[in-house]
Amino acid sequence: MNTIIQRIDPENFRDEELQEACSILQKGGLVAFPTETVYGLGGDALRQEASAKIYMAKGRPSDNPLIVHIADMDSLRDVADNVSEEALQLAENFWPGPLTMIFKKREKVPKSTTGGLETVAVRMPSHPVARALIRESGVYIAAPSANTSGRPSPTKAEHVREDLDGRIDMILDGGAVGIGLESTIVDMSTNVPTILRPGYITKEMLERVLDNVQVDPAITAKTMNPNIVAKAPGMKYRHYAPKGQMTIVEGESEAVIREINRLVREKKQEGSSVAVIATAETEMRYVCDHVKSIGSRKTEGSIAAGLYDILREMDHIGAEYIYAESFEQDGLGKAIMNRMLKAAAYHVIKV
Ligand code: TXA
Ligand code: MG
Repeated sequence: MNTIIQRIDPENFRDEELQEACSILQKGGLVAFPTETVYGLGGDALRQEASAKIYMAKGRPSDNPLIVHIADMDSLRDVADNVSEEALQLAENFWPGPLTMIFKKREKVPKSTTGGLETVAVRMPSHPVARALIRESGVYIAAPSANTSGRPSPTKAEHVREDLDGRIDMILDGGAVGIGLESTIVDMSTNVPTILRPGYITKEMLERVLDNVQVDPAITAKTMNPNIVAKAPGMKYRHYAPKGQMTIVEGESEAVIREINRLVREKKQEGSSVAVIATAETEMRYVCDHVKSIGSRKTEGSIAAGLYDILREMDHIGAEYIYAESFEQDGLGKAIMNRMLKAAAYHVIKV
């Protein structure tokens, strides 16, 4: 299959530029497109053969459900049942935006889209290209992140091409995304709304709207505990992972720098290829051929936006061992560390 790559300027495009993408979606084909969080791999959410193609292209286990992307509130009622007052309040405050909510599904949503579940995940993205694509195609777009299953989510069209070239019909290249981490997922089908995946919309932000929000224990787990089963099927898989073995070093900054430099020396003596994931504040302090800064600690947003690109770069370098600094687990830091811990398969050294 030849994958068409089409550039589109998110700040300045005409809806006609999306014609080909819309017609692909209407025919049951696949289009990767930018959202404010990460690139999505889109197909018609109501067509079984479209979701089957998505699973195929990604190599994704078919019990891992997809998120249905919509552009207006009528569409929510069309795909979801039992939409509570609380859910409407969250929609009012955070949609369009990086929040996904889970509801009881309506009959018309095929189980191939929901990974066999009776619930459906719904999100109204804010990215202008994503919004226009949903609106102009008239299709509810099922879209997981547009990466090969297990790899870091794509934050640039180039990442999508790296993973899916020749496996999908089209990539809409709208440049680098803004947030860089996947949406916050909140289960609204349970008595108390429950965060299943941390993201840009933090627990604190949700609590400004709702009295009671809980967190799925699988998120806060410090290890890969087989007794705690993640409620979002996707969260149980090894994920976001570079090919090398990644270790997070936690502790007071000077001690972390010393320990990482020691580990780098040790691995280099063994003849291995080593890389360090540092921050703008510390990158000068490491003695290693490959030191990459994810961003400045002063702006957590830049770290979220840079994380997946850096994880992919580790593969380009061919790093066999990767040592990374750690981050405070408050606010957006919780989502950043959640992804980093998974990338490192919970391999943490405390100093
Ligand atoms: O920001 C995002 O959410 C991006 C963009 C493209 O919108 N999409 C994304 O999709 O991250 P994906 O497929 O990579 O992650 C979806 C997550 C998975 O962990 C999946 O298990 C969970 O959502 N999920 C989907 N439907 C669910 C359901 N009915 N119940 C529980 N978890 C669900
Ligand atoms: Mg994903």
